[in-house]
This record gives sequence, structure tokens and C-alpha cells, in this order.
Amino acid sequence: MSSVSAFQRITPHAVTMALCTHTLGRSLHVLDETPSTNSAALALAQDGAPDGTVVVAESQTSGKGRLGRRWYSPLGKNLYCSIVLRRAPSAEPVSTWLSWVPLLSAVAVARAIQVTSGLRPSLKWPNDILIEQRKVGGLLCESSGTGTAHGLVIVGIGLNVNMWRDTFPEDLRDLATSLAAEAGRPFDRAVLLATVLSELELRYDAFMSGATSEIKHEYALRCATIRRRVRVDMANGESLEGRAHAIGDDGSLQITVEHPVGESPRESVVTIRAGDVLHVRKDVNR
Ligand code: BTN
Repeated sequence: MSSVSAFQRITPHAVTMALCTHTLGRSLHVLDETPSTNSAALALAQDGAPDGTVVVAESQTSGKGRLGRRWYSPLGKNLYCSIVLRRAPSAEPVSTWLSWVPLLSAVAVARAIQVTSGLRPSLKWPNDILIEQRKVGGLLCESSGTGTAHGLVIVGIGLNVNMWRDTFPEDLRDLATSLAAEAGRPFDRAVLLATVLSELELRYDAFMSGATSEIKHEYALRCATIRRRVRVDMANGESLEGRAHAIGDDGSLQITVEHPVGESPRESVVTIRAGDVLHVRKDVNR
């Protein structure tokens, strides 16, 4: 018996049976092991794979997280998948496409979790998926050739599904969770994948039809970062602290920063388009 058969595998048949999409997942690659489903999807896309192609793997040997981190990807437990999106809205600048795809994808994943499990995940800007302050999933969107006729975005989704809390590596145990740990039962990953794809297609089609403000509204309703005190570590090594108060029309995070000047502090609004946002735990609702 191969090690992959010791759990319920994701099969193309099981995903297809549960799928209600027109495009996403209609070209589907199910792998036992790959370095990274994002890298596999990018290679397929560069070879001409159609819009909506999905790669899903039982394990990743070099799963990639945001900001150069690794994504813990043990065999047969979780969902590691990547989706090729080739359609860009013609009426919008490429930057709008690139900033909204991660956010609308995060909303889609959160909604899929809710539909499947009854749990109600929140989002940490830009696209961490949280349950009760612990991370249950994350997204890594990578683009190639944007601004050309062959531009594409790979939406990579990692979701902790059937791991029990004591099986997480020690350094993740307090920070991460899984659907099984939260709901007290395991989940069918093929059905979950099909639900993620349906929810994503719905929002991607809406975005293509110009419904950005509806997506922004749905994102803001789920976003646990708004009204929180946050610290933002930026790529240039600088960091700032302030209160997140809104999502901008371009998907950015708007933060109010206080500058103490004499006795009357001055405030300014800073727009964050990239960076590592930390929710400062104390002082939640000041
Ligand atoms: C994050 O840091 O929160 C993003 C994690 C994204 C992980 C997923 S797993 C499937 C896909 N393939 C990768 O190598 N990374 C993404």
C-alpha cells in the first residue's frame, strides 16, 4: 500500500463530481507531490494551459508563503492548490487586477469555509484567513507577463484542513489552526476544493463585470484588521504603528498614524499597499 492511500485522496473524479463552475477547475491536475503548486501552475500556464486551470497536490516539498516564507505542507492533510487566471478586466488598469485578485480570493476562501463547516473565518489584510485569531489559511498570488496579451495571475491557496492541533510543528501550534481542530471533525478536501472554486468563480466574474465596490464591501465585512491597532513591517525594513480604519478603492489598507507634536497629537492617514501587518493584540477597541 502506498503512503498516499493511507488517507482519503483528492481524486479528479471526486472534485469534478462536486464542481459547479464553468471555467475554474475544468482543467484539473492532481499531483501526489510537487515542490510548489504555484510553480507547477505557472509552468503549465506558460505552456498554454487555459484560464481556470487548477493544480492541487497532496504534499509540497517547497511550499511558498508570502514574504519569502515557507508553507508547511504535510502529506494528505490539507489543501494546497493553485489556480491560473488569465482574464484581466479590460476597463481597469493592471494594478487594479493585481491588487483585487488576492482580496476577492480571500473572501471566496472564507465563504467556502463557512459554507462547508459553519465556521465564520475573518480576514487579516491582505489575505490571511483566521479563525479566532489563529491562521487557518493563506494565499500567495504571483503574476507573470501582466500588461501583455499573455498576462496571468496564479492564485495559490493553502488551507489547514484535517490536522489536529498537536500535529502542528511546535512553532506554529499557538498561531495556526485547522478546520478539523475548530469543528471537531474531518472534512472532505475534494468537496472543499470544489466549493472554493465555485465561490472564487462567482467573485471573479463579478469583478470582471465591474462589481469592485460590492467585493470591497464583502471584504470589509470580514476584515478583522479594520478598527484594530496594527504594526506594519515594510519591505524597506521600516515599520509603523497605527489604527487601521478602512480599505481603499484600490484594495489598500488605510491606517491612521499619530505623530505626537507637543501636547496635541497630529494624525495622518497612511496608505499601505504591501507589507506584513500584525494585529497588536491589546487595545482592541480603543
Ligand atoms: C501565506 O504566507 O499566508 C501564503 C501561503 C500560500 C500557500 C499556498 S499552498 C498552495 C500554493 N503553493 C505554494 O507554494 N504556496 C501556495
